[in-house]
Amino acid sequence: QPDAIFGARRNSAGLDLTDRVALGEVDAAREAFRQTKWLATPLPLADAANETTLVVNPADPTDIVGQVVSASTAGVTAAISAAIASTWPQTAVGTRAELLRKTADLYEANRAELFALLAREAGKSWADAVAEVREAVDFLRYYAAEAEARPLGAARGPFVAISPWNFPLAIFSGQIAAALVAGNPVVAKPAPQTPLIASRAVQLMHEAGIPKEAIQLMPGGPDVGTALTSDPRIAGVAFTGSLPTAHRIDRAMAEHADPKAPLIAETGGLNAMIVDSTALPEQAVRDIIASAFQSAGQRCSALRILYVQEDAAERTIDMLKGAMEELTIGNPWHLATDIGPIIDEPARKKIQAYVDVHAAKVIHAMKAPAAGTFVAPTVIRVGGIEDIPEEIFGPVLHVATFKAEDIDRVIDAINASGYGLTFGMHTRISSRVKKVSAAVHAGNIYINRNQIGAVVGSQPFGGEGLSGTGPKAGGPSYLPRFTNSHAPLQAS
Ligand code: NAD
Ligand code: ALA
Repeated sequence: QPDAIFGARRNSAGLDLTDRVALGEVDAAREAFRQTKWLATPLPLADAANETTLVVNPADPTDIVGQVVSASTAGVTAAISAAIASTWPQTAVGTRAELLRKTADLYEANRAELFALLAREAGKSWADAVAEVREAVDFLRYYAAEAEARPLGAARGPFVAISPWNFPLAIFSGQIAAALVAGNPVVAKPAPQTPLIASRAVQLMHEAGIPKEAIQLMPGGPDVGTALTSDPRIAGVAFTGSLPTAHRIDRAMAEHADPKAPLIAETGGLNAMIVDSTALPEQAVRDIIASAFQSAGQRCSALRILYVQEDAAERTIDMLKGAMEELTIGNPWHLATDIGPIIDEPARKKIQAYVDVHAAKVIHAMKAPAAGTFVAPTVIRVGGIEDIPEEIFGPVLHVATFKAEDIDRVIDAINASGYGLTFGMHTRISSRVKKVSAAVHAGNIYINRNQIGAVVGSQPFGGEGLSGTGPKAGGPSYLPRFTNSHAPLQAS
């Protein structure tokens, strides 16, 4: 039933992992999909194939999760031609929305398989896997509801969707859902590390009734991405990933694409949290742990630098060290695991090399398992954000201290980084909350809580400056960017 606050839309319920019935479902999923091997191919043009590679579980090199057949350049060209010929833009908005809702229902009906894929292919803990399926379902239903809530501008044309491995279902599905419901056929390129879940998602979209030429999958790496974003016929790109890749796509589009084709880019961050001496230490430490180390720090929203007020530093850091020792790091297939692996060996090496270079400044580090691509959650002391050369995309937390009278300088330094994705603050002083939140440049600001896990429809997510172009995903300004407001509105 519609209600006053949420209207007809509600967020997905997910699974409560402390509930015995829910745990029964998880156990059944673990039993059913323990050894499944999946296959990803270009969809629907499976013949446009190039090379085949194995997909290996990052937590267990002996676990082959499946194989991926990557797309060829000829396959990319053919996919864009098929998208241009698609009649999807002529489909009524209501029909498109209904097909997204059917896809959401199919995701929920197949969630056991999706959880298993998230754990084995992407190294997600079960809690993260459950949250990710929820978020994907929420994106599908939210954009369906948004498309029906108010008149949409005209469809733009074929959209390219390029997604990262760290939300291989939620971000992948969110980009596609927004472009599709706005009337644009989509050619999607998943991250090369996580093609299997992307392929399963596109199969479910087709099963829901979305035409095959309206959503096509082109697995592959940067070469496939470059071929897609350099095709002069594309009408826009939705990209989520690192800042250097966003720059490359921007350059490719500037050279080849129609100048009107938008690049919607969501990138990284050097996210900070300030904890002052009025904060509740237990609460702050719980939220620091979640923000910095959940998902092994592999979230764009993750906390990278903690500024703790000098007179609260010792107790906060001592408590943080103790709380870290309570975490379980290991294979996410085990339900007790809090922190899973780094996505692959090149990423592990890069993060570990950074930690090794800064070994003299390490305040505390856990121990990582020997097999699999793990990095131990680590805390490094720094003078301030200016000491961090770039986004370190793993479980590495930097800590700096500040004096109460220097808080304005801390905010200036955070803003000077140029990034502006998430920001957190723990304090009991409401005037400070007002002042700091007005001064800090960040897309998502969280007070007295952790700074990850924005909820679709309630907490639109996206950054400013080097963190992205906007508009915010999961919010009301997102869909209009996928349409052309100068052309006649679409009939609903
Ligand atoms: P990445 O930039 O390496 O890759 C992202 C995608 O771009 C992949 O599909 C990749 O194959 C593709 N790609 C790479 N080179 C390309 C090129 N030249 N042309 C076209 N496509 C190309 O990022 P990643 O390692 O997959 O993801 C981690 C990054 O994503 C982090 O920086 C993180 O902060 C960011 N991220 C941002 C958000 C957000 O909402 N702001 C969310 C999740 C992740
Ligand atoms: N939306 C994701 C989060 O908030 C990236 O953590």
